[in-house]
Amino acid sequence: MTERNTDSARNWAAIVLAAGSGTRMSSQLPKVLHQVSGAPIISHVFDSLNQVDINKVILVTNPENNNALSQIDPEISCVIQNTPLGTGNAVSVAYENASSFENTIIINGDLPLITRKTIQNLITKHSESNSTLTLVSAVVDNPQGYGRIKKENDIVTEIVEQKELSEENEKLTDINVGIYAVKTQWLNKALLLLEPHDNEEYFITDIVNLATQQKIPINTYELKKSNEAQQVNNRVELALAENIMQNRIREQIMLGGTTIIDPASTFIDKNVLVGQDTILEPGVHLTGMTKIGTGCRIGPNAHIANSEIGNNVKITTSTIEMSVIGNNVSIGPYCHLREGSKISDEVSLGNYVEIKQSTIGKNTKIGHFTYIGDSIVGERVNIGAGTITANYDGDEKHQTVIGDGSFIGVNSVLIAPVNVGAKSRTGAGTVVTKDVPPDSLVVGIPGRIRSGKGE
Ligand code: UD1
Ligand code: CA
Repeated sequence: MTERNTDSARNWAAIVLAAGSGTRMSSQLPKVLHQVSGAPIISHVFDSLNQVDINKVILVTNPENNNALSQIDPEISCVIQNTPLGTGNAVSVAYENASSFENTIIINGDLPLITRKTIQNLITKHSESNSTLTLVSAVVDNPQGYGRIKKENDIVTEIVEQKELSEENEKLTDINVGIYAVKTQWLNKALLLLEPHDNEEYFITDIVNLATQQKIPINTYELKKSNEAQQVNNRVELALAENIMQNRIREQIMLGGTTIIDPASTFIDKNVLVGQDTILEPGVHLTGMTKIGTGCRIGPNAHIANSEIGNNVKITTSTIEMSVIGNNVSIGPYCHLREGSKISDEVSLGNYVEIKQSTIGKNTKIGHFTYIGDSIVGERVNIGAGTITANYDGDEKHQTVIGDGSFIGVNSVLIAPVNVGAKSRTGAGTVVTKDVPPDSLVVGIPGRIRSGKGE
């Protein structure tokens, strides 16, 4: 349990609710671990909370998901709600941990779109108006599933849950987003007064009724962009949340100077960076910690995961994972760069080239149907069509080294471990079983040195 020390008054705790059974997701995975733009729902909530001046964040989990959830952010304290007795009960379970802070934010864990700015604005509004209770509200076109905010003479009086709505209240479009700022001392008293509903659950939303009964004015902070309120109760809402997040990410990337020709078919994870004047063609997926330089042309149809791409790189219809690509490289169509591929500047990789755990030197060309695994390929090498580095002997992987300026003939098979010296050539169809000295020609099956230093 870490409490953050900041210079400002030790004022704020946040309680994040994630102990519900998530039944509507119909999943073995806890609801808040489902991903939006490549990160678990709950980590989006943590990210926003971590960027504002909150002294302590407390996560409420249940006995089944506590292990998995407590690993998301080691800075966050977890408390376990043993029985899912509702959001009100979940807050009661966490209350002790928040009790020494003047104010508490309560936030549902299934709100991945809430921004740092919203949390900050809520804190500011609550503090400046010295409020006891401030609700985040939103006016939405489709309020289905949300608790509705009831007002009398424009003053908030109550939150009514979807299940308990009268026909007349169904039309209310002012919704309870699921985030509350509360004076902690008052929260303590209010929690003790909560009564269970018909389903035996205690609702945190009932603190609004209680405030009304006690004639405590209730403040609201209305979301500037109502789609931030998108919650994730089921997979339909998960897709809606992804869509909103994707629009947000794509917009940011476009405003940063990247062209996205067809935003609807372009998917970009939250932490991806794309440089100026790069063009993303339709069907591009950029995932994980991917970073793309300036002036690149990516796609159509490319998936780049956890990779770093230099400047002026052209990639068409290819898959690239955990690799590093230099500048002025051309890749594809139909290349698969697997983990640990390091491609130097000016390299050209053509149709159906697979590379794994290998370094390819500057200016090297690998044009067609080739597998390079566990290899070091030098500079200015030409690898002929159909070349295979046979790196696996059934038990272990072995290395192939190809020297600078070599020319590997079509259909060569290099049986690792093997070295081909600089400026050597292999004839078409050669099976190289032994090291080849520099400046040599090797031909046949098994490969025999025909000329050069090895003759
Ligand atoms: C809740 C609100 C509703 C609001 C909506 C929007 C209540 C009673 N209703 O409804 O007014 O419009 O969110 O976000 O609060 N949880 C626990 N323990 C429990 C039950 C739930 O920790 O016993 C957690 C869930 O894991 C979830 C969060 O609380 O992250 C909200 O619960 P959920 O079931 O999603 O509430 P909604 O029905 O969506
Ligand atoms: Ca919810």
